Amino acid sequence: MALSASARLLGNPDNAPLLTVPADVETRALLAQVLTARIRPHLAAARVGPARLPDCGGLELFLLNADFPHDALSAGEMDWALNEPSYWLFCWASGLAQARRILAEPELVRGKTVLDFGTGSGVVAVAAALAGARRVVACDIDPVSLEATAANAALNGVTLELADDFFDIDEHFDVLFGADVLYDVANRGFLPAFLDRADDVWLADSRVKGLTAENYRKIDTIEAETLPDLNEFDEFRQVSLYRGRRV
Ligand SMILES: C[S@@+](CC[C@H](N)C(=O)[O-])C[C@H]1O[C@@H](n2cnc3c(N)ncnc32)[C@H](O)[C@@H]1O
Repeated sequence: MALSASARLLGNPDNAPLLTVPADVETRALLAQVLTARIRPHLAAARVGPARLPDCGGLELFLLNADFPHDALSAGEMDWALNEPSYWLFCWASGLAQARRILAEPELVRGKTVLDFGTGSGVVAVAAALAGARRVVACDIDPVSLEATAANAALNGVTLELADDFFDIDEHFDVLFGADVLYDVANRGFLPAFLDRADDVWLADSRVKGLTAENYRKIDTIEAETLPDLNEFDEFRQVSLYRGRRV
């Protein structure tokens, strides 16, 4: 089953976007089944199912089961989890913080074009669409992340566009978001490109506390948690919010 029901891959005009209403019970079950099948070869005890995010106005995501036994992984599973992590199984603390902020202050995105870089589950992209963004592109290099994002768009009844390569997106955006994407030092190289691509850049990060980069400044520190809970160090619950502006 193709998971592109409510999203289309950028540059693929035949895969037309379909506006959806929130998925019905049968569709939810089917989407959960498809995403679970994606992960089972790697994590035998994994289930993917819809979870309602706290303080996000009813936003739901397909996430890893909260009772997943993280401390009982086989050597093969551990190897997979360390080397090819499926980030989309979690809503990372920074994504949750950004989504809450967007939903609490919809004027940040209402009527605007939005790019979500490193979308993972699509949490920020879905929040922007729910908050009234005119157009939302969700970008991730992981193709399964884009499937999960499409499923999460369907779950919440919003339309998103999908992109697998930041540099294939030619357009200029009003706002660009990136949540927990700076863990990979290579991604810091994107900082100037983000400012070329958007008027306003909002980066949230639970790992990088003191980013120093030209035209970016720290705005705030927000408390948020990764879902399902990974029992991470308290310091990873402190999300740094940075804003980039072209001068
Ligand atoms: C830690 S996850 C965060 C996901 C989501 N933003 C959230 O907060 O829940 C980081 C995501 O960035 C994606 N990513 C990393 N480098 C990327 C790149 N160069 N281009 C697009 N996506 C990238 C990964 O595949 C992963 O899905």
